[in-house]
Amino acid sequence: MNRPPATLIHDAARRLGAGDVVAFPTETVYGLGADARNEAAVRRIYALKGRPADHPLIVHVTGRDAAGQWAAEIPEAARVLMARFWPGPLTLVLPARDEVSHVVTGGQDSVALRAPHHPVAQALLRAFGGGLAAPSANPFGRVSPTEARHVRSYFPELTVLDGGPCRLGLESTIVSLIGERPRVLRPGALPLSALREALGSTCIETGAADASSPRVPGALPAHYAPATPLEVIPAAGLARHAEGLLARGLRVAVLRRPCGPWQNPVLPPLPRFLMPAGARAYGRRLYARLREIDRFGFDRLLVEAPPADEDWWAVNDRLARAANRHLQEVSS
Ligand code: TXA
Ligand code: MG
Repeated sequence: MNRPPATLIHDAARRLGAGDVVAFPTETVYGLGADARNEAAVRRIYALKGRPADHPLIVHVTGRDAAGQWAAEIPEAARVLMARFWPGPLTLVLPARDEVSHVVTGGQDSVALRAPHHPVAQALLRAFGGGLAAPSANPFGRVSPTEARHVRSYFPELTVLDGGPCRLGLESTIVSLIGERPRVLRPGALPLSALREALGSTCIETGAADASSPRVPGALPAHYAPATPLEVIPAAGLARHAEGLLARGLRVAVLRRPCGPWQNPVLPPLPRFLMPAGARAYGRRLYARLREIDRFGFDRLLVEAPPADEDWWAVNDRLARAANRHLQEVSS
């Protein structure tokens, strides 16, 4: 892993202290960080991302010891999860202390907290000495960056700490501890099975959020979208679907999984991009792959649908939202 020299980290911490926005690596995706106690700095993040002001940000902290500065209350289940998974790819939504800015919480009385594991994120947080509000370092609705150069392509003017490619490549899992039982608001890099193991299977709710639920833009039906219109198609239907599109004169590519049953020798040879077989490796690679494929300017990317089981929840969630964005564009 690359690791920027200590002087760069200290320089970045100094900029954060002066109210600047700095991009930094985490083990999930890169974040756009600002001093979570400085409203003007946090507003700069919203402006850069083009993100609606009522969509809250995650406050990044070094670990459990810092959580009490932001959360009014830390229920037992949160303690268990922090002890087990922090630092790591888990974000906890907790009741916010009164002094936490509404610019960070999107006007809600809860705050999302995460202690990232990445050594550069940890070094930056320690050098800065406070909490960093940080969304993923992409314009609103676009694919999250998993390498420093992706961030630079979105935001060429920003200071970006390069910590190498992200080890996990999908955003953190978000669990809300507001309400009776812990509830998953966004599937992510920490698998549901790990949460269940820590809390017991009866303690996790994963049902769709209702109207009174906190707002999670990562949970909007259309999000995380590449530029190339994308459709997720079961392997068995891929060949026929591709034929239909080719007949309309579209330039079609396929995002395949290894050993998929899809074979159709009568099809013209389509550009194919191979993804890893396992859910974790697929998730790690997904965003970078979508960006690579965008460069070719295909009219349509057909994604061979991964298995529907729980291990693939986060991947299937991101693919569905990426696909939805284009459906909405086509219909609106
Ligand atoms: O892996 C990650 O979580 C990355 C890295 C940079 O930490 N961050 C990330 O941030 O994905 P962002 O802003 O792209 O997504 C954060 C999600 C949003 O969907 C937001 O609505 C939700 O966290 N969130 C933040 N505060 C919340 C709150 N008080 N209640 C419910 N959801 C909240
Ligand atoms: Mg995001």
